[in-house]
Amino acid sequence: TEAELYTEYKGVYLSKSMNPPQSLKYLEDFTFRPDDIIIATYPKSGTHWMQHIVGLVLNGGDPTSVDTVYNWKRAPWLEQAATIALNLEERPSPRVFSTHFHHNMMPRSFFDVDPKVIYVMRNPKDVFTSYFHFHEIASFLVKPGSSSEFLHKFLDGKVQHGSWFDHVKSWLNAENKQHIMYISYEELSADLKTSVAKVAEFLEQRLDDEVMEKIAEKCLFENMKENKMTNYSDTPTKILDQTKTKFFRKGVVGDWKNLLAAEEAEHFDAVYTDKMKDVEYSIVWD
Ligand code: PPS
Repeated sequence: TEAELYTEYKGVYLSKSMNPPQSLKYLEDFTFRPDDIIIATYPKSGTHWMQHIVGLVLNGGDPTSVDTVYNWKRAPWLEQAATIALNLEERPSPRVFSTHFHHNMMPRSFFDVDPKVIYVMRNPKDVFTSYFHFHEIASFLVKPGSSSEFLHKFLDGKVQHGSWFDHVKSWLNAENKQHIMYISYEELSADLKTSVAKVAEFLEQRLDDEVMEKIAEKCLFENMKENKMTNYSDTPTKILDQTKTKFFRKGVVGDWKNLLAAEEAEHFDAVYTDKMKDVEYSIVWD
């Protein structure tokens, strides 16, 4: 149940095992550098995809890093238990991090230093769908129940990392947007090479056209799916049971149509329209 597996932090459910108190304290005390790069996402929005793109862009397309270093070491989640041991203070710049935290949950130093952020967002009906399947295989998450049970929890924000709506709004409404790049999963999906170019420009990396082509190829779902540094095939089944569903599950746009009934999708849209009515940023979903 939620009481057994989750803790509430700044009004948001977190997993007790993934985000223990010492990790939360670690992040609260963390010192950022101006040249840090942070990939911020609500879960299931394209985190691993962006970790791969950034890893390749920063290395001029050289795949050594993404082929030999686990993604959670290369671009560690600042709030997660495994991160404390990585000695991030000693890492050379530019350091790459990930976070599933809402903007308002970030620590003091983040606001003082104002490092670069790449915020990746995805159509919430697909986030819901991906998250639903992930809840069936991750032992640190509460079993989702039926998709309609999980839908209520998701729309109420009673899931790990809280409300999708609050998350997206918190980052879209960030006061200082100069250092934030916004991109959607759907944009990545529609045109990966142009997306790579956008990331390279944001990170001030000059890349030849053919290098960007190579990076896009390397970041295709079918290629990332086979990469042991990213696909969690070394993670014990008792933590992530990939015998039924893979972490790299489908990687497509619009899979919500296979999970949500017509009236559920309508309800979802109505909630979306209501909760996102004051958002000015125009989000590219398709
Ligand atoms: S996590 O666990 O929250 O950090 O997950 P995250 O990486 O944000 O999201 C996982 C979903 O992203 C899909 N994915 C991709 N789609 C297309 N192309 C590439 N290269 C790619 N890499 C990851 C992954 O399959 C999950 O989505 P679903 O819909 O479940 O397949």
